[in-house]
Amino acid sequence: MTGHRELEWIELQRPADDFDEPALALVARYADTANRVTQHFWGDEAFDTTVDELVAKLRHDEDSISRRFLIVEDGVDVARCVAAIGREEGARAAYLSAWVVPEARGRGIGRALMERLERVGAELGATSLQVWVDHRPPAEGDAGLAPESGHGAIAADAPAHLLTSLGYRLEQVERISELDVERARHELERHRADASAHAGEAYEVRSWEGSTSPELRDAMAALHARMATDAPAAGLDVDEETWDAARLQRYEAEMAEAGQTPLQAAALHRATGEAVAFTILVLPEPGKPAFQEDTLVHADHRGHRLGMLVKAENLLQLGRRHPDRTRVITWNAEENRPMLAVNEALGFAPIGVEGGWQRRLRAGDEEGTAAPGTMSA
Ligand SMILES: CC(C)(COP(=O)(O)OP(=O)(O)OC[C@H]1O[C@@H](n2cnc3c(N)ncnc32)[C@H](O)[C@@H]1OP(=O)(O)O)[C@@H](O)C(=O)NCCC(=O)NCCS
Repeated sequence: MTGHRELEWIELQRPADDFDEPALALVARYADTANRVTQHFWGDEAFDTTVDELVAKLRHDEDSISRRFLIVEDGVDVARCVAAIGREEGARAAYLSAWVVPEARGRGIGRALMERLERVGAELGATSLQVWVDHRPPAEGDAGLAPESGHGAIAADAPAHLLTSLGYRLEQVERISELDVERARHELERHRADASAHAGEAYEVRSWEGSTSPELRDAMAALHARMATDAPAAGLDVDEETWDAARLQRYEAEMAEAGQTPLQAAALHRATGEAVAFTILVLPEPGKPAFQEDTLVHADHRGHRLGMLVKAENLLQLGRRHPDRTRVITWNAEENRPMLAVNEALGFAPIGVEGGWQRRLRAGDEEGTAAPGTMSA
C-alpha cells in the first residue's frame, strides 16, 4: 500500500461573533466529509448530519468540550475527527471518532488520525478513551468478535482491526434497529393499553412536542442525570452528569437551533406530581427517520411497565403529529434484555450493530503530547 501525504488538521472553531461565510463553508466541508462516510456505510442519507446541527453543537459548548477537525491531504478533504469530554469536575472518559472517506482508506490515514486524536483526548484530561463504531453483525456461521460480557458480536472489520492493534477492547455491543410506526400502530395501541392497565391509577402519562414545560423541568433534568449512570455500560467507564432545569433548557435550545424537533413522553407519579419515567424521539430535518434517544424509568418506579407505556405513547404521538415520518431508529445494549424485549414486542427489526471500544491510559501515556492546531500533522 502507498502511504499518505502530509495531513493538515483544520479545527472547527466557534467564532467570537456569528458564523461568517468562511466559517460556514468550513462546517459544510466537514459535514460533507462525515456524510460520505455514513452514506457509504448505510447506503442512504438517513444518518447524515447538517450544517445547522454542527453549528448548534459548536455554539453549545457549555456542558462538554468537543474538538472537531477536518483533515486535508494535498488540498483534498479526506477525513474528519472529533474528541469530546464532559465538563464535569473529574470527567475521565473522552469520546474519539476518526472517519476516513472511502476513497482515501488503506493508506495509513486512519491510524495516523487515531494516534493523534488520542493525544487530544489525553490533553482534555481523559484517562479512558472510548470509540463508538458502526459495524456489521458477523456473517452467518462466523462467531465474529464478542465483548467480555458475551452479549452481542460484531464482524471483525477494518475499524475492529485498527482499534485492536491500538490496544482497545470491545466492551459493549449495541443493536441498532428500525421500526415502521405506521405498520406497528395496532401493536402500539395494544401495548399502550396493556401497559396503562398495569401502571394503574398511580401514574399518568403525558406527551408533548418541543420543549418541556416549566413545572416538569426539574424532574426531567433529574431523570436525564440518571441516564448516564443507570443505563447498562458493561466495562465502559462512565462519567456522572450534572443536570438541572437550566441544562435541560440548553439541551432543548440546541435541538431547536439544529432544526431538530423533540417528541417526549413522561409518566407522572400522581401522588407527588413528579416525572418518574421519560422517553425522547428526535426528528431531524424532513425526509430523515426519527431517532429514538434516551428512555429511562426511575429505579423506585420500575416493574410497572412504565417503559413500555412512555415508549408506546411517544411512538403513537409520532404517528399522530407526523404521519409522513414512519421510520424510527433505536440503539439498545445487547445485555439490556428488558429494553430489547419491549422493542422486539413492538416490531423493531435489527439493521446493524455498534461497538463500544475502550482503552484506559496508564500514567505517563499522555507525556510528550503535542497540541494539534491548524498546522500539519
Ligand atoms: C477505520 C478507518 C478509520 C480506517 O481508516 P484507514 O485510513 O483505511 O486506516 P489505515 O490505512 O490507517 O489502516 C489501519 C488499520 O486498519 C485495518 N484495515 C485497514 N483496511 C482494512 C481492510 N480492508 N480490512 C481489514 N482491516 C483493514 C488494518 O488493521 C490497518 O492496519 P495496518 O496498516 O497495520 O494493516 C476507516 O475504515 C473508516 O473511516 N471507517 C468508517 C468510520 C469508522 O469506523 N471509524 C472508526 C475509527 S476507529
